[in-house]
Amino acid sequence: MVTLQEIKQNEAIRVLIKAGNRYLDHMGYTEHGPRHVGYVSKTASSILKALGYSPREVELAAIAGWVHDVGNSVNRHDHGPLGAVLLLPILRETGMEMADIMEIITAVGNHEEQSGFISSNVSAALALGDKSDAHKSRVRNGRPDETDIHDRVNFSIQENQVTVDRENRVIRHELTMDASSSVMEYLQIYMNRIVMCEKAAAFLKCSFDLVINGQSINNRPDKE
Ligand SMILES: [Fe+2]
Ligand SMILES: [Fe+2]
Repeated sequence: MVTLQEIKQNEAIRVLIKAGNRYLDHMGYTEHGPRHVGYVSKTASSILKALGYSPREVELAAIAGWVHDVGNSVNRHDHGPLGAVLLLPILRETGMEMADIMEIITAVGNHEEQSGFISSNVSAALALGDKSDAHKSRVRNGRPDETDIHDRVNFSIQENQVTVDRENRVIRHELTMDASSSVMEYLQIYMNRIVMCEKAAAFLKCSFDLVINGQSINNRPDKE
């Protein structure tokens, strides 16, 4: 099986990630380079691993995380489906099995909250990995634009972790924010992402708990 390590060394993928990140830099978006895709790769694969899924799905989630944003090299709009189409010939050339390629393509093509639909374990893990990446280190050059709500929210996030409670089937996203932004601002810009995380966790037969500064944000009485 083709591994994440081989995909990381693939020249075409390396160039696509760089081009997408550069494009988003000019658009004023947060960091989408190796730090972001590395986080998503690691988080998506560790969620499936912690829940006891097969080594194949764990590796496919790791690869999907690494390649999920290549479509930004074409256009931000629809970058999920665009990336999926770009990846097909590149992944074929690596010698990857077609069934494995399709797992990655479906996940990548559905990772955007605007149009994504969760239909597989790899896709669910990718969405959780991607939508949970909010942290001060994503603000470019460590200099937030204080008039920009995305910069404000990200820069206020001091700690960010996703943990899995396999026994109780809970995927927990815990954040620590300082006073330079607020929970309200986080919810204002990331509500659709939170809803997508809830759907992705449900696909994995888990609940999704968002905890900010020790306070559960989306708990419901029926879960107690
Ligand atoms: Fe994306
Ligand atoms: Fe992403």
